[in-house]
Amino acid sequence: MNILVTGGAGFIGSNFIYYMLDKYKDYKIVCLDKLTYAGNLSTLKRAFENPNFQFVKGDISDRVFVFELFKEKNFDVVVNFAAESHVDRSIEDPEIFLKTNVIGTQVLMDAARKFDIKRFHQVSTDEVYGDLPLDRPDSLFTEETPLRPSSPYSASKAAADLLVLAYYRTYKLPVTISRCSNNYGPYHFPEKLIPLMIIRALNDQPLPVYGDGRNVRDWLYVEDHCSAIDLIIHHGREGEVYNIGGRNERTNLEVVKTILKELGKPEELITFVKDRPGHDLRYAIDPSKIKNELGWEPKTSFEEGIKKTIKWYLDNRDWWEEIISGEYKDYYERMYSNR
Ligand code: NAD
Ligand code: TYD
Repeated sequence: MNILVTGGAGFIGSNFIYYMLDKYKDYKIVCLDKLTYAGNLSTLKRAFENPNFQFVKGDISDRVFVFELFKEKNFDVVVNFAAESHVDRSIEDPEIFLKTNVIGTQVLMDAARKFDIKRFHQVSTDEVYGDLPLDRPDSLFTEETPLRPSSPYSASKAAADLLVLAYYRTYKLPVTISRCSNNYGPYHFPEKLIPLMIIRALNDQPLPVYGDGRNVRDWLYVEDHCSAIDLIIHHGREGEVYNIGGRNERTNLEVVKTILKELGKPEELITFVKDRPGHDLRYAIDPSKIKNELGWEPKTSFEEGIKKTIKWYLDNRDWWEEIISGEYKDYYERMYSNR
C-alpha cells in the first residue's frame, strides 16, 4: 500500500506515520507538509531512517504542485491531517484556516478523483458539533449530532466535512471521515493545553487557565487515535463518519492539577486568565459506532497516558526547547500578555 499522509510533520500526523511504519513493514508512506510553525522536521527524525518513508515539502492548497505529486506517486490512500489546528490562532486570524482547511481539502480531493485514489480519509474533529452543556453529563456527540461549530477553526473543519460528504454523493469519491476528541501525547505542540502546562510547570512559570477552568474536554491518547484511523482506512465503510473518543472527560482544572501533582509542583502556579471568546463548554464523544462496527477500543487510560506524556516531555527537552525559542515566543506574548 502506498499512502499519502498530509500534515505528517505535526502532532497527530507524525504519530500516525510512526504507528503505520512500525505496524506495516511493506507499506510506503509519503508525508506532504508545508512546515508551518506547527510542523517540525525534527519530529520525523526516526522516520527518515526508514527506506519506506519519504518527505515532500509543499502546500495542500497548491493545485499544480498537488496534481504533480499525485501523478508521480500513484497513491492508494490519502489521509488528510494537514490543517491549521489551534482555536486561539483562528480567533486571531481566520483566513489561513479557510485556505488550508477548506480549499486544501478540496484540492486534495480533486487530485484524488483524477488519480483514482481508493480511499480519501479526512481527519476531522468533534469540535464540528459545537459544545454540550455542563449540567447534562448524559449528553454525548453522536455521528447524527447536527454540526454547530463555534470557532473559525471548527467552522472551517465543518465546512471541509460537508465538502467531503458532497464529493462522496456527487462524484462517488471513496471517502471516510473521523471526528476525534482532544488528543494528547508525544510531539504535541506547546500552544495546546497539556504540553503548554507541562512545559510551564517544568519551568516554574504561571499556568494560564482560561475562565474558571470548569470547561470539559474528552481526552484520548494519540496512539489510540492512530489505531482508529488505521481501522477506518482498512475496514470503514465509504461515505461514513466515525466518532472517536475514549469516554475520558476531565475539566481543564483537573488536567492541570494532575500535571502539577505528577511533576511535584505547587498548585499556586495556576493563574486564572480572561476566558477565550466563544469558549466551548464541554466535548464528549459517543464512540459506539466505531466500537460496534470496527471493534475499536482505546488501550491507554488517562492516568497511564498522562504519565507517559510527561515522561516524554522530560526525556525530549531538545525537541520542545528548540520550538519555544522561535516564533512561539512572540505568539505567547501576543496571546497571553493582556489577559
Ligand atoms: P498540528 O497543528 O500539530 O499539525 C498540522 C500539520 O499540518 C503541521 O505539520 C503543519 O505544518 C501542516 N500544515 C498546515 N498547513 C498546511 C498546508 N497548507 N499544507 C500542508 N501541510 C500543512 O495539528 P494536529 O493536532 O496534529 O492535528 C492534525 C489534524 O487532526 C487536524 O486536521 C486537526 O483538525 C485534527 N484533530 C486534532 C485534534 C487534536 O486534539 N489535536 C483532535 C481531533 C482532530
Ligand atoms: P486546547 O488545547 O487549545 O484545545 P481545544 O480548544 O481545541 O479543545 O484547549 C483545551 C482546553 O484548555 C480548552 O478548554 C481551552 C483551555 N486552555 C486553557 O485554559 N489555557 C490555555 O493556555 C490553553 C491553550 C487552553
